Amino acid sequence: MGFLETIKENARKHKKRIVLPEGSEERTIKAADEIIAQDFAEITLIGDMFEIKALAEKFGLKHISKAKVVNPANYDKKEAYSDLLVELRKSKGMTKEEALRLASDPLYIGVLMIKSGDADGEVAGANNATSDVLRPALQIVKTEPGVSVVSGAFLMLTNKKEFGDNGLLVFADCAVSPSPTAEELAQIAVVTARTAKNIAHIEPRVAMLSFSTKGSAKHERVDKVTKATALAREMAPTLAIDGELQADAAIIDSVANLKAPGSSVAGKANVLVFPSLEVGNISYKLVQRIAGIEAIGPILQGMAAPVNDLSRGCSVNDIVNMVAITVNQAAGIGK
Ligand code: ACO
Repeated sequence: MGFLETIKENARKHKKRIVLPEGSEERTIKAADEIIAQDFAEITLIGDMFEIKALAEKFGLKHISKAKVVNPANYDKKEAYSDLLVELRKSKGMTKEEALRLASDPLYIGVLMIKSGDADGEVAGANNATSDVLRPALQIVKTEPGVSVVSGAFLMLTNKKEFGDNGLLVFADCAVSPSPTAEELAQIAVVTARTAKNIAHIEPRVAMLSFSTKGSAKHERVDKVTKATALAREMAPTLAIDGELQADAAIIDSVANLKAPGSSVAGKANVLVFPSLEVGNISYKLVQRIAGIEAIGPILQGMAAPVNDLSRGCSVNDIVNMVAITVNQAAGIGK
């Protein structure tokens, strides 16, 4: 069984409640229909019931009537959600008037459903920018205990089986935190290792990447990565992790033998942690586009409940897969 099938099989056992705030977006509604047909999540669509029905008819969707629909214009929990919002954000000056306005915004309704225990996870972003999906989640769902920074991992699948674990690698952070501190980078390494283990089902070997290998260059940005490596070792003493490493030393044995002899990770890393968002985001997009590597994600890590962001160029299948991953995270499989 491929790992996506394993993820769906696990999801089917738990069938968590996933909210899709872009309920009348074409790919989202088609994905919802497919997920209900495959029976691995309970779906809530946020949108106008009549519009959703009309679209279902237009696209010939057979299963969508089993989805729950929340209409932002007149759902029965609007008052309760706006009260919750005032309570959660009072230190930020949230007024009832502003809360009522936000409680009509599907991206806020989704995370308020999670916070109220009415949903277990959310997937959005087919129609919205990453920052607009992330901000409500960061404000309302917040981080899990012991983690202060949310990050985004990609599962990278290449048919060059000599890399990673049989061609599977995990990259992070490629989606969220522009300039992590050493402490934040250490957290990103530890949660990405967990994603590798629990979602990708590989035993993590983490490379902390830089433009230097084991002191070959001197720079404050190199120091940040060596410090992060030491901190990650303190946080997860049994984790196989090494740094700072250049990308070639991390994934190619012959280079590792020259530049980092004796490292238990160099040459065979399957988790690559980038020193900043610029590097992570640019790297995953370049290898995806130029080398044709399949990139699944971003899988958001470190949130108290799973919220996952889609690329606006996503396909129906991307949404189906991301919902399956989100169910796995909601079931605690990603922890
Ligand atoms: N982890 C945890 N909490 C965070 C993080 C983080 N990485 N970043 C911000 N927060 C929290 C803040 O503490 C704050 O909480 P509070 O309001 O309760 O105090 C809240 O989120 C808002 O924080 P701001 O500092 O106001 O941040 P802002 O909303 O401006 O931006 C965001 C946060 C949206 C994550 C921003 O850093 C961002 O845009 N990141 C890049 C996202 C992106 O565009 N990625 C590339 C595209 S994705 C792709 O290509 C796969």
